Amino acid sequence: ADDRRERLYTLSARAGKFFQETMWETEEGKSIGLSYFKERGFRDDIIRKFELGYSPDDWDALSGKVIAEGFKEDVLEATGLAIRNDKGKLYDRFRGRVMFPIHNFTGRLIGFGGRTLKTEKSVPKYVNSPESDIYHKSNVLYGLFFARKAIRDEDNCFLVEGYADVLSVHQAGVENVVASSGTSLTTEQIRLIGRFTRNITILYDGDAAGIKASLRGLDMILEEGLNVKVVLFADGHDPDSYVKQYGGPALKTYIERNLQDFILFKTTMLLKYAGNDPIKRAGVIRDIVESIAKIPDGIKASVFVRECSSLMQIEERVLISELNKIRLAKS
Ligand code: CTP
Ligand code: MN
Ligand code: MN
Ligand code: MN
Ligand code: MN
Repeated sequence: ADDRRERLYTLSARAGKFFQETMWETEEGKSIGLSYFKERGFRDDIIRKFELGYSPDDWDALSGKVIAEGFKEDVLEATGLAIRNDKGKLYDRFRGRVMFPIHNFTGRLIGFGGRTLKTEKSVPKYVNSPESDIYHKSNVLYGLFFARKAIRDEDNCFLVEGYADVLSVHQAGVENVVASSGTSLTTEQIRLIGRFTRNITILYDGDAAGIKASLRGLDMILEEGLNVKVVLFADGHDPDSYVKQYGGPALKTYIERNLQDFILFKTTMLLKYAGNDPIKRAGVIRDIVESIAKIPDGIKASVFVRECSSLMQIEERVLISELNKIRLAKS
């Protein structure tokens, strides 16, 4: 079984090389793939470091090449790099896309995300490798291999949504950044970060989906006993678009000035919808106490009770009795 996994690793690495060579050395790759990344403002050193590439717009460019080199069809299929059609013939999954290789935290290439260059809504923006014997989406974080040293040094991990966000934030000099990329954040991913730091800062997209995912993510992070903060971007912005519009130094300042602990973020978000309606405000308080109840450390929890009390203008003892009720119901 280990031999089989080794073959998948070897093929994935070979494919990564192929996509890189295609991008740097072929006319199609240079004029379409490389110029796409350059137009988005990515520097050569970042393009090389993250091993970005381009897949030719062809049904079997990769398959044909690696089969000729002796790789077996079933290995191609098992990595998801090729798909078998109803006639039993293999064709490449990634065609005419810019390629983001996905590494595990030890640096082995295990999968790919491929972005289309087309703008039609009918074409999926990203195609990703499927689950395989070496790629389990739920316990992989994009960029972790390149971020782990900085995460330890900074004792904090920035969590973004997408591939481009990781590249831009990294390029801006903030190297402790990873993406949950596509899948919603999982407990395994949080535990993986937990091996390097106890502090996570969520930097999701500033749209409704990003806010919703931040609220969900922060509760999960609290449950794992990690500390969580949130930086909210203006609607329509994500960390990548922010860097592209305002520059890398501005991003650092923006993060410093807009860092919110989870109570402040959650309170602000929920109160926006509750307005002055007392019943709704009571619901918000209950919701926040639910989040505090997830914190395993009692001393930390009491600090947040105090903050909630002052933010919501409600007595601490009322919050504490609610907190105890929730704790009792859970035990
Ligand atoms: N994603 C995906 N499949 C999609 C859309 C998104 O797998 N059809 C994942 C990708 O990992 C993507 C992330 O979710 O990077 C965030 O999605 P989105 O914000 O829509 O894309 P961006 O990363 O902002 O992509 P770009 O800046 O290239 O447009
Ligand atoms: Mn062909
Ligand atoms: Mn998004
Ligand atoms: Mn985005
Ligand atoms: Mn984006």
